Amino acid sequence: MNPFPHKHLLGLEDYTASDITRILDTAESMREVLDRPIRKVPTLRGITVVNLFFESSTRTRISFELAEKRLSADTVNFSSTGSSLSKGESLLDTVQNIEAMKTDVVVMRHRSPGAPHFLSKHISSVIINAGDGAHEHPTQALLDILTLRQKFGDLKGLRVTIVGDIAHSRVALSNIYGLKKMGAHVKLCGPATLIPRAAETLGVDITHSIEEAIADSDVLNVLRLQLERQEAGLFPSLREYQKYFGLTRTRLEKADKPLTILHPGPINRGVEITSDVADSEHALILNQVTNGVAVRMAVLYLLCGAKQES
Ligand code: CP
Repeated sequence: MNPFPHKHLLGLEDYTASDITRILDTAESMREVLDRPIRKVPTLRGITVVNLFFESSTRTRISFELAEKRLSADTVNFSSTGSSLSKGESLLDTVQNIEAMKTDVVVMRHRSPGAPHFLSKHISSVIINAGDGAHEHPTQALLDILTLRQKFGDLKGLRVTIVGDIAHSRVALSNIYGLKKMGAHVKLCGPATLIPRAAETLGVDITHSIEEAIADSDVLNVLRLQLERQEAGLFPSLREYQKYFGLTRTRLEKADKPLTILHPGPINRGVEITSDVADSEHALILNQVTNGVAVRMAVLYLLCGAKQES
């Protein structure tokens, strides 16, 4: 088997369809490990992974930690609260000091776009981006794509619409890069104030009508409104957003066939999606979460493979 051609996973912009397929195929093998009575293999014994989370997370943080433990890596969890960042230590000094304790991999979530790219120029560890501001969230897109591949077999020609707050979403950009490389047709749907003008340059279609999105799609990937990243006034109220863009059973019933529903979480029930849709048989939201562990195991395995064999 050829060595994996990347040292880091900073985003999907630089990954090819072949790189993505290799991660998905490896993730399928990792899913089998997760279904065994003893969900652990010795693959990353001797590797130490530091999980650096400077922003809140439930799914990504826990699934990276589980993925590391399933592969027998040693793990250390850092959170900015209670660290020496509060005494004025910089991000780079923080990470260089942790690396001096002989660690191998940094998994990082940070509010600043490009923070993992910056680190990759200054430290020798493998770096995995667990979400950098509104830029990229590559493992989320990989687990979304794996979930769709399991359902549809092939993504070529699949019509996927990403609905909601595109402007503040790292999930959207990584999904656009990944889905397009795998041959899917990607459409964005949301209020004009939540879709950046530059989106047109990414080779996607744009609509401001949820009814049109439902009529023209096989899959809807529904995003949360990232209220913590928004300036005021991008739409009048949550009630208004729900009225014009919320995904409801009534709206979905107008489609000529059932649509597959994804959501990266966390869900704001009753805002971007109603509970009856989120909990329906067509929503693959918890499959996405399970696939998240397998995808992160695959990424760790492929990026650490060369390091461990050297
Ligand atoms: N999807 C996602 O990134 O969820 P968390 O913020 O809980 O990690």
